[in-house]
Amino acid sequence: METAPKISIEGQPPLHVAIIMDGNGRWARARGLPRSAGHRKGVEALRRVVEAAPGLGITHLTLYSFSSENWRRPAAEVRDLMGLLRFHLRSETEELERNNVRLQVIGDRAGLSDDIVRLIEGVEEQTRRNTGLTMVMALNYGGRASIAAAARRVAERVAAGDLDPAAIDADSFGAALETAALPPPDLLIRTGGEKRISNFLLWELAYTEFVFFDTYWPDFSSQELEHAVFEFRGRERRFGAVGV
Ligand code: IPE
Ligand code: IPE
Ligand code: MG
Repeated sequence: METAPKISIEGQPPLHVAIIMDGNGRWARARGLPRSAGHRKGVEALRRVVEAAPGLGITHLTLYSFSSENWRRPAAEVRDLMGLLRFHLRSETEELERNNVRLQVIGDRAGLSDDIVRLIEGVEEQTRRNTGLTMVMALNYGGRASIAAAARRVAERVAAGDLDPAAIDADSFGAALETAALPPPDLLIRTGGEKRISNFLLWELAYTEFVFFDTYWPDFSSQELEHAVFEFRGRERRFGAVGV
């Protein structure tokens, strides 16, 4: 008797994809170029991913762009990264508008220069009503600092007599995080070969699926994004319960 063809049961696509865009420096070094050339090329990969994401069913894209630890880099590289950020915050707004993308920024703004903060506020305001992809840029972002900031907000409410400490649980604490309005990431992608979180979204990644690529970020293609989504759809998420 002939067996029926195997029906592949694919799960839902990831709605929220978080990306650690790593490997710009090594991409440049492999070509005898300065690290700054890798960062510039990395912006093109970012553009490819933002364009491809909606077609794959992705509604939220969170991109690790500058960590709270990246200040440890040589001053010239930090200056270069901030210059690149300034340039693109100015030049990409039109493009975001055209693609119906809403931009939001997470991270500690107090550590960024005033003009960058004003640019961020401008783009956030201008794209606030866009209903397509939500693009979240993590800038001067650290997972531990983000949790500590939420703890401070909760503690202030307790000190003011607005909150009973006994009422603090994972749900109410999560609501104090700057990411509270975002769905938790379904899928985390890290390029560049390293297999670590590097202080990204520590709280939010509790049940996120991880997919790693050796590809350096500037070479990351829409096909690789598609591959990560495919891989995700084949995984069984159990959230601590028993599988099917
Ligand atoms: C990621 O690439 C970009 C930022 C951290 C800003 P890197 O600059 O970390 O590149 P590698 O890891 O040194 O190759
Ligand atoms: C993580 O990459 C930060 C960003 C991609 C913005 P890093 O290159 O800073 O991470 P480590 O130092 O290798 O852990
Ligand atoms: Mg790196």
